[in-house]
Amino acid sequence: MTTIRDDDIPALVALAEGGIHDPDSMPFYFPWTDAPKDELARNMAVHYWQARAAFTRDHWSLELVVRRGGQIVGVQGFSADNYLVTRNGETGSWLGLEHQGRGVGTLMRQTLCAFLFDHLDAEEITSGAFVDNPASMAVSRKVGYSPNGQTREKRRDGELVVCQRLVLRPEDLVRSHHQLEVEGVAALRQLVGLDG
Ligand SMILES: CC(C)(COP(=O)(O)OP(=O)(O)OC[C@H]1O[C@@H](n2cnc3c(N)ncnc32)[C@H](O)[C@@H]1OP(=O)(O)O)[C@@H](O)C(=O)NCCC(=O)NCCS
Repeated sequence: MTTIRDDDIPALVALAEGGIHDPDSMPFYFPWTDAPKDELARNMAVHYWQARAAFTRDHWSLELVVRRGGQIVGVQGFSADNYLVTRNGETGSWLGLEHQGRGVGTLMRQTLCAFLFDHLDAEEITSGAFVDNPASMAVSRKVGYSPNGQTREKRRDGELVVCQRLVLRPEDLVRSHHQLEVEGVAALRQLVGLDG
């Protein structure tokens, strides 16, 4: 996994255009995948550019492109508010349909959580999934998250959604058998304010 670079965006757009979920369901709070085909590419690029431009120590997000065998298969994200105080944040992710159901979603979440606990001093990681999203909830369960209540929310398209909140603490992380290798940690720690 690496941070998303501009060169990665066309492949991510192609993946999203190929489908991320059943068109009759909507797993995302902001229903970005419902955008008309000719707007999706621009919206996705703007989203990634905005995340970079709005990056501050009080409010930041990491958008990581996930590769399998060198091929781009999806995105694993993490966003945090007031991280220097809270030491927590929220994970979110998606894969192209053809890459789902092969364990990649579990592995990429395990990888990011291990990175956050081992290298970024996180103390708690949260996630949320609509109750009609069994794959996302299964990944959270397999990675060690615990249920943390439910909320009723108005999705951006006006629909009521019930969200299962989830929380993961370092001692509960179910690690993958792969060894975690990292690059560029010192620069990231400095950027988010952990080291001066
Ligand atoms: C959520 C997502 C990232 C998971 O990635 P994935 O690679 O498919 O997940 P994995 O293969 O690692 O694991 C999926 C688990 O869900 C389970 N699962 C999938 N569909 C299920 C269903 N209908 N009922 C019960 N369990 C289900 C699988 O059995 C598997 O668990 P297992 O390994 O114990 O059998 C991926 O499905 C995705 O991108 N979905 C669309 C976008 C999305 O929902 N994002 C999350 C928003 S909160």
